[in-house]
This record gives sequence, structure tokens and C-alpha cells, in this order.
Amino acid sequence: MLAEWKRSGRKLVALTAYDYPSARLLDEAGVDLILVGDSLGMVVLGYEDTTFVTLEEMEHHTRACSRAVRRALLVGDLPFQTYESPGQAVASARRLVDAGAEMIKLEGGTEKVSEIAAIVADGIPVVGHIGMLPQQVREEGGYKKKGKTPAGAGRLIEDAAAMVEAGVSAIVLESMVAGVAAEITANVSVPTIGIGAGNECDGQILVLHDLIGAFPWFRPGFAMQEADVAGEITRAVEAYSRMIRGKS
Ligand code: KIV
Repeated sequence: MLAEWKRSGRKLVALTAYDYPSARLLDEAGVDLILVGDSLGMVVLGYEDTTFVTLEEMEHHTRACSRAVRRALLVGDLPFQTYESPGQAVASARRLVDAGAEMIKLEGGTEKVSEIAAIVADGIPVVGHIGMLPQQVREEGGYKKKGKTPAGAGRLIEDAAAMVEAGVSAIVLESMVAGVAAEITANVSVPTIGIGAGNECDGQILVLHDLIGAFPWFRPGFAMQEADVAGEITRAVEAYSRMIRGKS
């Protein structure tokens, strides 16, 4: 189905959601793909980074979103260290599918081909994720844009090809040089979904809270902001407080 998308040339619109109301609003607004991302850890659960997110937490939020989604593709994100071997990857992926996900996403390139192939062989479609990998943030000492050197670009191109060979249905390209993302997009048979990877990908994804301004304490530079939900919440709470306390 996603390969057909690529052939059609229509840009794929993807966003994250973590709960029933946001997933339902996105679904009703016509978003094509909803990712219950492990970014949940930062923008909803208050963790420092995504490495603290557990599979149980992902199941809980995937279940809530699946109650809302009628039309969009619902993708569940495998959290850190839940896909370290093919057997563990299949068991973890099944848990997200049981919670309502139609596909799962995992981070990593050539080093994850056995896990991807095992999940695909189990009948579960997989979305790959390469470039800047949030689950590697502690190992890498920060969030670093990828593909800046010829060697780095070559590794990303190899990662994408290996993932397609292993059977992924789409690949998220996160925070990489736009030209590298464009080259990958032109050379793989599955759709690429960019985030901070230029305009040439087959689709784009953003963390919902970045798009709607619901997490004002941190927003990546590449994320467009179309609303100020945090500002609206503050305004409404201040208005309510003034009313209750009797001040105008
Ligand atoms: O967890 C997430 O939200 C993601 C997207 C940023 C692609 O992986």
C-alpha cells in the first residue's frame, strides 16, 4: 500500500499522536499516517529523552490512539532496547500490534536488518528510521545532523538500501543533509518520510506538540509551528483563575 503511495507521487502527511483526542482530531483532519512515537517520553511523560520509554507505556498510548483512528495508518514505535534480537523484536512488535498498531517503526540501519526481516516474516509491516536517531542520544552525546561528510552520506545510503532489502514498507529520514535525503528518496522503492531532511522526501512527519506549540520548553529548529496551544492554555487558565478569585 505504501509503495503504491510512492508511485502516485502524492505527498504523505504524517504526525505523531499519543492519546485519544489528538489521534481522533488528526484522523478526522485527514492525516495519512499517525505515529505513536516514543517522543511521547519527552513531550507527554516528562522524561529527559526517549531512552526511558517502556514497551508498556507504548502499548498504553497505542491502545488509546487505536480507539480513535478509523482511517489513517496507525504506526507504533518500538522503544529503546526492545528489539535487540530477532526474537525480542518480533515479541515486542506483536505487543504493539495487539495494542492496535497496524505497523511498527524501529530505529537503525544495516545493524537492524535481522530484526526487521524477522518482524516482516511474522507478517507485521515495518517502518525504518535512519539519520539522527533519538534513541542514540546518550551514546552520541547530543542530537547531531547526519550526512555531512561523504562517508556519513554513504552510510545513510547503504542503511536505506539494506532496510529496503530487509523488507521495510517506508523509511523515516530524520535530521540529515537535504541532498542525501533526496538521493535516498530517488533510489528506494518505498516512501521516505522526512523530518528535518529537506523537501524532497515522499512525505513529512512532525511531532504534533512541535507543530501546535504544545511543548514550549523545547522545539527543534527544523519544526514548523502553526499554533500556540501552550499560550492558549495559559491564557484560559489565567482567565479562569481571575474569574474564580473575583478579579477582572
Ligand atoms: O518518536 C517520534 O516521534 C519519531 C518521529 C520524530 C519520527 O520517531
